[in-house]
Amino acid sequence: MKRAIIYYSLTDNTKTAAEKLSEKLDADIYRIELEKPLPSSKAKQMFEGGRQAVFELCPAITGVSERFRDYDEIILGMPVWAGKPASPINTLLTDKALAEKVTAVFTFSGGGDNGGCIKVLRKKLDNLKYDIALADRNSKFAGENDKKLDEFVQRLG
Ligand SMILES: Cc1cc2nc3c(=O)[nH]c(=O)nc-3n(C[C@H](O)[C@H](O)[C@H](O)COP(=O)(O)O)c2cc1C
Repeated sequence: MKRAIIYYSLTDNTKTAAEKLSEKLDADIYRIELEKPLPSSKAKQMFEGGRQAVFELCPAITGVSERFRDYDEIILGMPVWAGKPASPINTLLTDKALAEKVTAVFTFSGGGDNGGCIKVLRKKLDNLKYDIALADRNSKFAGENDKKLDEFVQRLG
């Protein structure tokens, strides 16, 4: 079976998890980006990224490829923004054929409140079977990340 990991990451937490998964699952890995990057100041990032996420906007993205069609399964990774998926993921999932291939998601939050994000994803992904909630290194849940990633790999087989 051919598997791809597609992820978005602003500050590279999701990137690190995606790379670990890619190695353990022997899956190809792709990063998507916002065509218009968020502002560089943290406060403006929170405001603009939060706004895009809250309203489930679909900003233009780069890194999307026709090659995604060749995969049997897609594993999707993203940060939690304002309790929802980061906005580039909304754009990616407007491709219904791609969304149908997503069987697993990993989400990365600051404080461990990934539940709302996963709930939004469940509504959009008919074939979603597995999800994990990872958290920043400053969070009290951060120590659980490696264990969760290992379990995720085992469940995916
Ligand atoms: C615009 C924005 C909104 C965020 N909203 C939340 C949030 O609602 N809840 C939370 O726990 N963390 C929130 N965070 C923190 C990120 O989810 C967290 O830092 C994550 O690990 C970042 O992943 P990344 O390094 O792959 O970008 C937010 C970060 C940004 C930039």
